[in-house]
Amino acid sequence: MARFENYPKVNGLPVPKFITQSQVDLIGGMEAFTDDIWIVTYPKSGTTWMQQIVKLILNNGENDERTLSQAVPWLEAANNPDPSFDYNQIDISNMSRPRAFKSHFPFHLMPCGKPNEIPNKFIYIARNPKDVAVSYYYHQIGYQYLSDLTWDDHFEGFLDGKLPFGDYFEHVLGWWAHKDDDNVLFIKYEDLKKNLHTSVQLVSNFLSMQLTKDVVKKIADQSTFEAMKHHPGANYGWASHRRHPGAAPFMRKGVVGDWKSHFSLEQSSKLDDEYVRKFVPVGLKFDFQ
Ligand code: A3P
Repeated sequence: MARFENYPKVNGLPVPKFITQSQVDLIGGMEAFTDDIWIVTYPKSGTTWMQQIVKLILNNGENDERTLSQAVPWLEAANNPDPSFDYNQIDISNMSRPRAFKSHFPFHLMPCGKPNEIPNKFIYIARNPKDVAVSYYYHQIGYQYLSDLTWDDHFEGFLDGKLPFGDYFEHVLGWWAHKDDDNVLFIKYEDLKKNLHTSVQLVSNFLSMQLTKDVVKKIADQSTFEAMKHHPGANYGWASHRRHPGAAPFMRKGVVGDWKSHFSLEQSSKLDDEYVRKFVPVGLKFDFQ
């Protein structure tokens, strides 16, 4: 387990090696606009999916040359001084408004200030813990250079909150507590999966974008797993040189329930216990059987 202790910390939170305290401090000092939009998640919960949806909503359904990292940059990973860190470089000050950003920070550590004290809009996507754990396992192997990581070790690291961006349950609960704030839209991966069309409509209403039915359909059609998997601007192909050779592609399976082919009975009941103890009392439920 010692390998998980090597992640650097920013404001006490474990982060990937390419994010530093000084990068995050720079965000606090950047010029913010009242119409900035944030897509926030615990990793592997559907961030990229929502980046695609928001990019298309802001573009009235039209796609363009920009990758999702350019159209909706990951703000805490921006300002990286390493020139080889080339998949997220974007001049934030020249982005057209409204700007949309991605972040993996918990509510209380958001680098833009406290979400409930600023007018920005926040879309938080949550995914059930079991599928997040599995998706994160493949991500760790592919993008964190932990090619010999076993599922069992990864599972323990996930349960102990040792992975980048910390404890899954705390992250989700921190945002769930603000689900009724006017400037927060809390949405579940499983609901996107169940009805993509309705979810696109929900997000566009939240962003106060008036879209015709045809445009909503066009956006939903371009945001399916298959459509994104085959679109170079949406499938993370621009970062494939950072992936361990032979590792699963970024657009891996995109389903609900893949956990069943990874979890032992004991692991499943450990996560069920956490779920029942932490989510059920506050009314947070996921459909993931
Ligand atoms: P899997 O590894 O389970 O396939 P993030 O963008 O937060 O890193 O999340 C990545 C996960 O979202 C991956 O899950 C990926 O396949 C899934 N995903 C991305 N786009 C999707 C889409 N259009 N439909 C369903 N799942 C999608």
